[in-house]
Amino acid sequence: MGTVIVIASSKGGVSKTTLTTALAVNLAALGYSVGVVDADRNQAFANWYKMAEAPALSVTSCIGHNEIVGHLIAESEKQDVTLVDSAGFENQTATFAMGPADMVLIPCMPDRNSVIEAAKTAKQVQSVSQIARRDIPYRVIKSRWNPRGLAEAATLEDIEATGLPMIRQHLSDLVAFQKSTYSGDMPRTGTIARQVRSIIEELRGLGAIEPRKKGRAA
Ligand SMILES: Nc1ncnc2c1ncn2[C@@H]1O[C@H](COP(=O)(O)OP(=O)(O)OP(=O)(O)O)[C@@H](O)[C@H]1O
Ligand SMILES: [Mg+2]
Repeated sequence: MGTVIVIASSKGGVSKTTLTTALAVNLAALGYSVGVVDADRNQAFANWYKMAEAPALSVTSCIGHNEIVGHLIAESEKQDVTLVDSAGFENQTATFAMGPADMVLIPCMPDRNSVIEAAKTAKQVQSVSQIARRDIPYRVIKSRWNPRGLAEAATLEDIEATGLPMIRQHLSDLVAFQKSTYSGDMPRTGTIARQVRSIIEELRGLGAIEPRKKGRAA
């Protein structure tokens, strides 16, 4: 049985789909079998994949809250890692998807509202943990981030004051991410790949991604 990573935030436009894409492509390049479940009605990931020059991924859509849990369990039986791209507002499908999750990643951009919504999403994970009677780990991940920016400094203080656990590695604000929505090409080398691989390393350390057992070589 593989692991399930849900990418969620009740704030729209914080990089959920971008992070899903970057993780999927780089995990596949490392030899993992990767499933991506597009749980957002707007199907941004599924549409990207149709034109993408991406490695083979198992891409499925599931937007119903009564279907998502069974769907994730079935996918995770087939794939090393199953990623869920969820919609950018509080929605039952994202909440239910947290049930079988091994990790919930909450992207947060350098602005106050992103932190407020990240905290709400974290609360949601905690509630689902109580329902499931098990600890569901979650981490905030800094997205569209310039480590020297003023808004970033204020946002970091805010995240720390709120006590939200973080992934150390951020995703930089890079035009290549926007370009990839048109070109279908998510870089597997250079800055983006370095950052994403460092995120993958952290996720391994947290047990959200198993060391690679099978699949193709990088
Ligand atoms: N690190 C980044 N650097 C530059 N642009 C980015 C970055 N991350 C995301 N973007 C851009 O910001 C926009 C929103 O990103 P994305 O679609 O990934 O967010 P989302 O959280 O999935 O949004 P939604 O809530 O609508 O699903 C897109 O145009 C994307 O290309
Ligand atoms: Mg999206």
